[in-house]
Amino acid sequence: MRLLITGASGLLGLNMALRCAAAHEVTGVARGRLVGLPFAYRRADLTDFAALPALLDEVQPEAVIHCAALADVDACEKQPALAQRVNADLPGELARLCAARGVRLVHLSTDAVFDGAKSDFYTEDDRPNPLSAYARSKLAGERAVQAALPEAVIARVNFFGWSASGRRSLAEFFFRNLREGRPVKGFTDVHFCPLFVGDLSDLLLSMLEKGLQGLYHVVGSQALSKYEFGVALARQFGFDESLIAPVSVEAAGLTARRSHNLRLSVHKLSTDLGRVVPHYLTGLMHFYTQYTQGYPQRLQRFPQGDA
Ligand SMILES: NC(=O)c1ccc[n+]([C@@H]2O[C@H](COP(=O)([O-])OP(=O)(O)OC[C@H]3O[C@@H](n4cnc5c(N)ncnc54)[C@H](OP(=O)(O)O)[C@@H]3O)[C@@H](O)[C@H]2O)c1
Repeated sequence: MRLLITGASGLLGLNMALRCAAAHEVTGVARGRLVGLPFAYRRADLTDFAALPALLDEVQPEAVIHCAALADVDACEKQPALAQRVNADLPGELARLCAARGVRLVHLSTDAVFDGAKSDFYTEDDRPNPLSAYARSKLAGERAVQAALPEAVIARVNFFGWSASGRRSLAEFFFRNLREGRPVKGFTDVHFCPLFVGDLSDLLLSMLEKGLQGLYHVVGSQALSKYEFGVALARQFGFDESLIAPVSVEAAGLTARRSHNLRLSVHKLSTDLGRVVPHYLTGLMHFYTQYTQGYPQRLQRFPQGDA
């Protein structure tokens, strides 16, 4: 398949592009300069909407996997207009252009569209109620995509893995601090379903190959608190888990409001794909194996500043 993957310098975009590059014709899109990639890439600021038609016409993808976003929740709270442009207007524009060209689209959204008030797992039929500027902009993005291209896959996700900056995922936060013996806080009252980024990439590709359409929850099959996730990571790496202080998210002084319940059901996904969705523990094992193989250092060599 000829794939255009946006956000190719980001946590998902880079991992997904690397994973797809062996079997597919991948072009990544990134704002900064990247070197030594095993796939083609274009430099573009995607908020320049006027440049998007030429990008699609030159690459002629069969599918776009749209990973680019303003994904920093607290930055979105401070810059809601930019969040709206990047997370809502841009996916709407891309969906419109894909619809006009017969190009398939996978759009990435978030578990944070829910307010967390439900005591059970959220399904795709539950009504979103975003609490933050980030979550509002992501929900607006979902709606813009649905309006322009109803056949698009919209995947609500939560994932962890290694990134080029070493600072994009919760797992990297725990890893970085625990390896240095630094105490950290782990939220006991935020429950989520983390999925290893490699597993997420495989699932998204399978969804494309199987021709799935519409809204899906694409997260891990098991729920746990962010504190418990930190402890599981510490055990996987042999770090001192007592460095993780169990605290409430409400005491953390974060800028944007957070949902306490980010548990999403993957029933629809596993039924439609006909396969089991991976557990975070197997994902943590892959995360650890990548570490032992020097994968984080490999990622860090790709970005070359803004030269
Ligand atoms: N990480 C999670 O667990 C999580 C949870 C829920 C939802 N999501 C969603 O999953 C998707 C991928 O997230 P991620 O964690 O991979 O995010 P990320 O690591 O922050 O990467 C975002 C990417 O978007 C690019 N980007 C931002 N603005 C751009 C612009 N104007 N033009 C071109 N590129 C631009 C960034 O480029 P630069 O490197 O140049 O900034 C980066 O490559 C996003 O839609 C996010 O909302 C992530």
